Amino acid sequence: LNNGLALTPQMGWNSWNFFACSISEDLIKETADALVSTGLADLGYVYVNIDDCWSAATRNLKGQLVPDPKTFPSGIKALSDYVHGKGLKLGIYGDAGAFTCQVRPGSLFHETGDAQLFADWGVDYLKYDNCFNLGIDPKKRYPPMRDALNATGRTIFYSICEWGVEDPALWARGVGNSWRTTDDINDTWASMTTIADINDKWASHAGPGGWNDPDMLEVGNGGMTYQEYRAHFSIWALMKAPLLIGCDVRNMTAETLEILSNKEVISVNQDSLGVQGRKVYVSGEANCLQVWAGPLSGNRLVVAFWNRCSKAATITARWDVLGLESSTHVSIRDLWQVIKLTFQLVFWLKELKLRLTFCVRRRSYQKVYQVYKTASNSPNTL
Ligand code: DGJ
Repeated sequence: LNNGLALTPQMGWNSWNFFACSISEDLIKETADALVSTGLADLGYVYVNIDDCWSAATRNLKGQLVPDPKTFPSGIKALSDYVHGKGLKLGIYGDAGAFTCQVRPGSLFHETGDAQLFADWGVDYLKYDNCFNLGIDPKKRYPPMRDALNATGRTIFYSICEWGVEDPALWARGVGNSWRTTDDINDTWASMTTIADINDKWASHAGPGGWNDPDMLEVGNGGMTYQEYRAHFSIWALMKAPLLIGCDVRNMTAETLEILSNKEVISVNQDSLGVQGRKVYVSGEANCLQVWAGPLSGNRLVVAFWNRCSKAATITARWDVLGLESSTHVSIRDLWQVIKLTFQLVFWLKELKLRLTFCVRRRSYQKVYQVYKTASNSPNTL
């Protein structure tokens, strides 16, 4: 959507994955505080997004949405003032149907009034869900909210949450700033990998202004191992997915914060070229040894060696798979290495093999990353 937003994928936090309906204005304020105190805000996580359940069960007598008086007694305007005071932005949630998924009033046929209310409240972001949609085509239900938001004059990020049901990548680029390509994620390796594969199919449709959305991050929610969360974060970054934290940032482990704070992985996601990286090579049993890659600005590439098998393995990425001429010389850098070193490698050969250490599935033994050339007489073996 050409509204000046989403030149890179959106970054922030959303309440749903960890809190579902157990939300309150105190939680949102404490989350804003924690984003600042942990340094995450400075790294770009600026949207503080309230998901479903913020609204009372019915509209008021003027037909307006009202915040649930028990959980948001001070109202959304006070909350957006608070969040803005921290240098952050506030997101809210609505539904392109008669009700939200948790049966709060939906915005279908109320687009103009609801968009104006959001703008008056100082809202910066709208996630727009797809429940109780009366069977009306999403291509008819999503543009009216785009137009209503635009008519308010306030710049509001428009996140289409249509779960990929009508192939939104094919029509949503002119409608929203991102569009969900899949059903909901859950905090399991199976869900995360399945979703990554579906989102990959739509890669060519992503770019500045509009991104494929494989759903929010589960990093830190407890259902995957450290290595698996690192794989999740790496692939979401490479796929130019929105980086919306879905855990309780007030109570993160050091490991969770370390993953979410990896500046170089974040900068892959936020790269100005805005090209979604994709799965470029598979091998092994059930294709569980994978290479994902994509171009970055400044004549760089990102390459992820993703071992989805259950034991350590060697993965090979050939230069032609990466789109490189066989004579290309490269420097490589492991973005997860604690001590960051850039290795200058001169290649006369056509492939690079990495003994994998990260993204190895549970139970697997983690080793130090080694990079070596394939020629036995190579003087540059590391
Ligand atoms: C379905 C969406 O896909 C989820 O992300 C979340 O917003 C829930 N609805 C809320 O009810």
